Amino acid sequence: MKRLGILISGRGSNFEAIADHVASGALDAEIAVVIANRPEARGLATARARGLNAVCLPSKGLDREVYDQSVVAELQRNHVDLVCLAGFMRLLSARFIRAFPGRILNIHPSLLPAFPGLDAQHQALTHGVKISGCTVHFVDEDLDAGPIVLQAAVPVLDDDTADTLSARILEQEHRIYSEAIALVLSGRYRIEGRRVLPAR
Ligand code: GRF
Repeated sequence: MKRLGILISGRGSNFEAIADHVASGALDAEIAVVIANRPEARGLATARARGLNAVCLPSKGLDREVYDQSVVAELQRNHVDLVCLAGFMRLLSARFIRAFPGRILNIHPSLLPAFPGLDAQHQALTHGVKISGCTVHFVDEDLDAGPIVLQAAVPVLDDDTADTLSARILEQEHRIYSEAIALVLSGRYRIEGRRVLPAR
């Protein structure tokens, strides 16, 4: 069984959706470790309540290289096959990425390459787009930039606030993250340039 390492910083609803899909058998994988960089991350308590291996590695005040090395060590100790960033609010160092080549995914609440970075839903609203959504992508050293595995689109409604738009997008995040994880774990894909395509 393939082993997931899930990295969170806060609420952890994407982590929970993945855990639900694992529990129901819809996603054939196991959660080897959940790591939070903030002790107050709500997802940490949820992970513990579910009886999962949940580890807090506080990042505050630590040098990026030093911190990333401790996270990599924890992931390796748990024999993680795929690293899933789920609201993990940190840029990964080159060394971290090299430790898991092609084996780190992230979810972002916009149709990348539109609106990378913070407050993507607010950015979409203020820009005035009529459609937004979410993206699961491989992680490289740039912010929200690696090859795209899956996307889902949602309408932006005239009376949307950042909260209502976020909720509509989140529903799709919870669906496509597990789908993307399943695809990547299956190995049935190839990457051509930036394109993630079905394996031949
Ligand atoms: C999600 O919107 C995700 O796309 C972004 O951060 C948010 C995390 O939410 N990267 P949660 O912690 O999974 O509930």
